[in-house]
Amino acid sequence: MADALKIGIAGLGTVGASLVRILQQRSNELAVSCGRAIQITAVSARDRTKDRGVDLSGITWFDDPVEMAEKGDIDVLVELVGGAEGTADKSVRAALARGLHVVTANKALLARHGVELAIMAEEKGLLLNYEAAVAGGIPVIKAMRESLTGNHFSRVYGIMNGTCNYILTRMEKEGLSFEACLKEAQRLGYAEADPTFDIEGNDTAHKLSILTTLAFGSQISADDIYLEGISNISIEDIHAARDLGFRIKLLGVAQRTETGIEQRVHPTMVPLDSVIAQVDGVTNAVALESDILGELLMVGPGAGGNATASAVLGDITDIAKSRPGTQQVPVLGRPAHLLEPYRQAQMRSHEGGYFIRLTVVDRTGVFASIATKMALNNISLESIVQRSEHSAADAPVTIILVTHATMEDAVRKAVAAIKSEGYLVGEPQVIRIERPKTA
Ligand SMILES: NC(=O)c1ccc[n+]([C@@H]2O[C@H](COP(=O)([O-])OP(=O)(O)OC[C@H]3O[C@@H](n4cnc5c(N)ncnc54)[C@H](OP(=O)(O)O)[C@@H]3O)[C@@H](O)[C@H]2O)c1
Repeated sequence: MADALKIGIAGLGTVGASLVRILQQRSNELAVSCGRAIQITAVSARDRTKDRGVDLSGITWFDDPVEMAEKGDIDVLVELVGGAEGTADKSVRAALARGLHVVTANKALLARHGVELAIMAEEKGLLLNYEAAVAGGIPVIKAMRESLTGNHFSRVYGIMNGTCNYILTRMEKEGLSFEACLKEAQRLGYAEADPTFDIEGNDTAHKLSILTTLAFGSQISADDIYLEGISNISIEDIHAARDLGFRIKLLGVAQRTETGIEQRVHPTMVPLDSVIAQVDGVTNAVALESDILGELLMVGPGAGGNATASAVLGDITDIAKSRPGTQQVPVLGRPAHLLEPYRQAQMRSHEGGYFIRLTVVDRTGVFASIATKMALNNISLESIVQRSEHSAADAPVTIILVTHATMEDAVRKAVAAIKSEGYLVGEPQVIRIERPKTA
């Protein structure tokens, strides 16, 4: 049997501790399937005294992951610290500089520095694996990077944040407000104490930026993603969506268009009878649309210690099975120096269906005025309905419009024109509609 693969694990939190447990419990069968043992020779975290429920005896402890990457007796650095900068970034760079393979679950790091790190790895013939960074346990990176080579992708989209999906699911099922569901998610440990990063879509954007590069061969461009979170989704939107045959999901969508690549993260109406609409709770889903394969939807656990460790383990075993001196899988799907500059499509030229909810004063002519503003902007309506939520004679009424495919620019202009008329109560709600290819 070949020499053991020696790994150093930086970060012993939710994912790191699960990984240590699994590697220890399954050491024999992993050695058989990889043809060599996988040995944890070093670990690093902040607090040496913390009980992590795993046996760390005989493993060299480092207070600093960078020092472990520089000096540890390891072949692979497994980075499970997190964060785009600081310790995670420095330790990964130190490992690559020293000629070590790297496995990471860190989407923030890759979204920020992925191309640079890929170049470093490829120049030295090293592997930089990151399956767990997108959609946790779902093997989407391997599918895109290896299994679907040669396909031309047209669109990639998915539910990639379990916290948001949990909140939206609970709002619909229990009829509770966004705030109440967020509190519940925090109590159950599904949402961070500061949930901004999740609910405002940044976490999804990081993951999307990686999928965009794999799909379209362009450089990672996480700062050019159109971003809208779920915090202003109301229970009225959820009910109206359901009445119209839709469900609201926070989607990350990357799409090739005539003017460039669209990357957007926003609450989205998906048809109730589509498979992605059935993806509930903390579960993730990624849909890939390509010319040779057609449509592929992968659904599974997007987070959690074991599910994420499963993806990290797959990355480690790929390294254990790889042979030195052979061609490595390009980190980002094609050699990093051949990635094209990112050509951003303007959000104003996005084309699709729209749901628009307007609360208006109950006055003669308002309905006609709204219909006229839409027509003046060449927006063709699939439906326009008036709902009276309150019984009082002078109470505001809700008007809900669903458009056929139209340009975002036209919708913005029409909504601005409606706002200027002075009959709106509160802010208009605009939610984009996304239809799976086959729906
Ligand atoms: N949790 C998930 O479900 C999930 C899913 C997909 C991807 N990920 C990614 O996996 C990575 C780890 O996530 P996690 O949930 O396991 O995080 P976590 O529970 O917060 O654990 C982070 C670990 O890093 C250690 N650490 C932090 N700063 C450090 C420093 N300066 N020096 C040394 N050690 C340091 C912490 O040490 P102490 O324990 O001593 O404080 C802790 O063990 C992140 O990149 C995350 O985005 C997580």
